[in-house]
Amino acid sequence: MLEQFKKDVDTGLSASPKYLSSKYFYDDIGSQIFQEIMAMPEYYLTDSEFEILSLQAKQIAEKVNFKKPFNIIELGAGDGYKTIKLLKNFKELGLEFTYIPVDISKKAIDILSEKVTKEIPEIKLKSHVGDYFNLLNNLPNNIPSLVLFLGSNIGNFKKEDAQSFLNLVQSHLNPNDKLLIGFDLQKNPIIIKNAYDDLHGITKAFNMNLLHRINKELGADFRLDKFDFYCHYNPISGEVKSYLVSLKKQDVHITSLNKTFSFDFNELIWTELSKKYSFNQIEELSMNTGFKLDYNFLDCKHYFTDSLWSK
Ligand code: TRP
Repeated sequence: MLEQFKKDVDTGLSASPKYLSSKYFYDDIGSQIFQEIMAMPEYYLTDSEFEILSLQAKQIAEKVNFKKPFNIIELGAGDGYKTIKLLKNFKELGLEFTYIPVDISKKAIDILSEKVTKEIPEIKLKSHVGDYFNLLNNLPNNIPSLVLFLGSNIGNFKKEDAQSFLNLVQSHLNPNDKLLIGFDLQKNPIIIKNAYDDLHGITKAFNMNLLHRINKELGADFRLDKFDFYCHYNPISGEVKSYLVSLKKQDVHITSLNKTFSFDFNELIWTELSKKYSFNQIEELSMNTGFKLDYNFLDCKHYFTDSLWSK
């Protein structure tokens, strides 16, 4: 784990332009700050998807249309806040299913499992710590599966990576399985800008935590007051890109790599891509990865969609 972190930090900071992988945002402090991001009124994503899963569970169940007990497999389950709502609604509709959350973090799975059993005591739960594809490889073909990839996870993938990830998911599914996947939609650019470039400084703290984490875990001497946060939404490409900015020409030493990295005045470190999709792009992505788009479930403002795909 630490070896991989070291290697990725080395690769990213040696590259030109520099970058850091966004998967390292989510240590204990980062996960806490992300909860604060989700609680900001400007960060509409969570509320929009929560609305869809709260109000349209019945319609989702109808479109999924499994006639017998099924599996609900959630890839990268997160804190479960939205999913639990969907599961509760499905239970109330009398559906029979086993919930299988999958995550590489044991801690995340433990917390989620406890929460789910507390909220829905009668739930059939088979949590899985490990790689998504290991689990998908071993799916029984006599029970249909609804695979969930919620939030705007897919928006954090570059185009090629989104394609190859979804191709791989597709190739692991049985013919009757379905995928419910979240996309943040292109919308008035001001709304998107405000969600990412927040005035409270929470998103800045979230990005700065990456440097704090490198200091702490890899023995680096990043001076946090000598870096700032910048992000930009381009409504033509639909991409929010987030960066850290070096406020002076400076050297940073990372002890565990035994290396010094030089930063120019105003040099950027790219930290995240948050791609916003149009309906055409969603349809195109489904077709290019061997899926058929069955239905888009939208919130009332049309900010977000949970898109149901079949093979
Ligand atoms: N990755 C999530 C998203 O794209 C979380 C996030 C919100 C984020 N604001 C951010 C990640 C700013 C990096 C920078 O919505």
